[in-house]
Amino acid sequence: MNRELKIAVIPGDGIGKEVTEQALRALKVALEGSEVNVKETMFDLGAARYHRTGEILPDDELESIKQHDAILLGAIGDPSVTPGILERGLLLNLRFTLDHYVNLRPSKYYPGVPTPLKNPGDIDFVVVREGTEGLYCGEGSVENEGTADEVAKEVSVNTAKGVERIVRYAFEKAQSRQRKKLTWVHKQNVLQRAGGLYRRYVEEISKEYPQVTVDYMHVDAATIFLVTEPSRFDVLLTDNLFGDILTDEAGAVTGGVGLAASANINPEGTYPSMFEPIHGSAPDIAGTGKADPTAAIASAALLLEHMGYADAARLIDAAITDDMRNRAVAAQSGAQLVRTTEQIGDAIIALIKDPAGH
Ligand code: IPM
Ligand code: MN
Repeated sequence: MNRELKIAVIPGDGIGKEVTEQALRALKVALEGSEVNVKETMFDLGAARYHRTGEILPDDELESIKQHDAILLGAIGDPSVTPGILERGLLLNLRFTLDHYVNLRPSKYYPGVPTPLKNPGDIDFVVVREGTEGLYCGEGSVENEGTADEVAKEVSVNTAKGVERIVRYAFEKAQSRQRKKLTWVHKQNVLQRAGGLYRRYVEEISKEYPQVTVDYMHVDAATIFLVTEPSRFDVLLTDNLFGDILTDEAGAVTGGVGLAASANINPEGTYPSMFEPIHGSAPDIAGTGKADPTAAIASAALLLEHMGYADAARLIDAAITDDMRNRAVAAQSGAQLVRTTEQIGDAIIALIKDPAGH
């Protein structure tokens, strides 16, 4: 009996469209020969739609998105739209409405791939970024706008329930990994209220996971260690804003954000989870074919894994690993591979169909 995998596809803006096309191709190829039929629905959301109709995320489309098993998203944001309108109205709206409280961002370094680090070491960690609270919640106010007395307030909201569930998820994640190490990152020496709430739950829940080693790091120190000794990390737990910043840095040290995937997960499955590269819409290179679709393709693998298609996910991951090896070989011989978005997609898809060395 054939199963159906209903995917809502939101290519979005800029390079989002280009990389999502490759991700969807790879996903389908990885499922070839299985009993799964992919049924995708394209959603025309983002800057072009906004300019055309003024709509950002109409209710009926949100409802329709909810009827899917998972969401594949490219990138949101365009210089022609005031910053925040699409990011808040579309991307964060989806993350919040669909209760994507786990923003999971794995970082892995493939030896030989060009990196700004002299000694990258063995980098293989995952950031568990809280996805629905903190400074992203949108609370705040502006007083005396436009005057010399203007006061702009952005409020970070952290709830006991919100903190408890993300802390618990991070412990589960650490427990499932070989090193079983959890580093929680905050700024509790200054942000005492939010930091204290995280600390309480980390301390309490750590009792249930005696095998997990826990340490704490201030976020400023974490930015240093991500550069000087990234191999020390296994699972990093942090809030929404710190997680946003640290995962861009993590992407950079492992060879560029073009390789970094992410999953916005609603673990209870009440709503579909959403998979997207951590990079943005990169309007400066949109349409040039320079975008690396690897992060989007790796995000499709996270989607497959989340939906229970572990074999197909492994096929994609192995193909990416092989492609990384090819990059490393080219880099070592001094000839960096120059390929278009589509050529990288082709190369990875070829490796999915015919894994190297088999
Ligand atoms: C990301 C992005 C988003 C974020 C923006 C576009 C709202 O930077 O996914 O990391 O800050 O979460
Ligand atoms: Mn970001």
